Amino acid sequence: MDQTQTAPTPARRVIPGKKGRLLTGDRPTGRLHLGHYVGSLENRLRLQEEYECFFLLADYHVLTTGADRTREIARNIEDLVLDYLSVGIDPERSTIYLQSLVPEVAVLHLIFTMLTTVPRLQRVPTLKEVMRDHKLETATLGLLSYPVLQAADILMVRADVVPVGKDQASHLEVTREIARRFNELYGPVFPEPETVTGRVGTLVGTDGQAKMSKSLDNAIYLSDDAATVAKKISGMFTDPTRIHPTDPGHVEGNPVFIYHDAFNKDAAEVEELKERYRKGSVGDVEVKKRLTRVLNEFLDPIRERRARFAADPRRLEEVIIDGSRRARREAQETLNLCLEKMGMDYFRTAREGAAPRRGTA
Ligand code: TRP
Repeated sequence: MDQTQTAPTPARRVIPGKKGRLLTGDRPTGRLHLGHYVGSLENRLRLQEEYECFFLLADYHVLTTGADRTREIARNIEDLVLDYLSVGIDPERSTIYLQSLVPEVAVLHLIFTMLTTVPRLQRVPTLKEVMRDHKLETATLGLLSYPVLQAADILMVRADVVPVGKDQASHLEVTREIARRFNELYGPVFPEPETVTGRVGTLVGTDGQAKMSKSLDNAIYLSDDAATVAKKISGMFTDPTRIHPTDPGHVEGNPVFIYHDAFNKDAAEVEELKERYRKGSVGDVEVKKRLTRVLNEFLDPIRERRARFAADPRRLEEVIIDGSRRARREAQETLNLCLEKMGMDYFRTAREGAAPRRGTA
């Protein structure tokens, strides 16, 4: 990770002992899987101590591709919070919040749309990918503006770091450009946040396809039980050129070994397996059996925490409500500051959440 600090933004408090602020999040569209873990969750956990953290449940972002399936969102929010808590995001230390409970983000998004051109957004590579995957002929205004809304999420808390999967890097570039543009036009408000990507860029699917994803049906979920994991691994794609366990096999690009590399902490065991695999002295079954053990050991504490939190839905609600209240205070403060810098902080007393003018009580 690049440790260079972004320019200080005097208006924002930094908690003593913390390096700054972190914000990241996910769209509540389904359960999180191992690809999310190595791509981003792991970094979030690592940075949770060092940074003041905000974890966003981006429900408005779901509308960009799922405007016809809004009724699924409520259920998916619950699953996403459970995923967060089960991997060890700690609501006592970090803020978990719901985008739609912080309406200021929509106002900030509106302001930012004036600082972003249409061709710039048309060049964002994820736009074409999403259009292809969803078989869309044209993009809605909302889909085009996806990275601008994401910039509003990030800049709303004036975050310094954003741990995300590699596919999100182009969105963070848009965020930095918007921050720069705003600061140039109106004066310094926003840090230019740094992207932190995971140790495994994109995790392969169990079927050998480049990306683990729900829509490709090739994912192992953090919430899968032990038997499901065993079943998915036994059906996993390995080395297609190898027919008998005694044939010399290929380790590179072999999903089973990619998973061993990513999750097996016993490096000596992995090396030994690779060596025997190359020589044809170990079969797929054995390699997979060991992988199943490794993954189930990794997932067990996650499953336990999940069960504990799932048993207390009132607590889950509380986490979201309290977190959203906190995030909203930050959003109001940032929006006030923006409007002030823009010379648009008129009619303050009539605006909900506006602080009294500085210097007056
Ligand atoms: N676009 C992100 C994703 O699909 C989700 C997201 C929305 C996000 N707002 C964000 C991520 C702000 C980081 C910061 O993964």
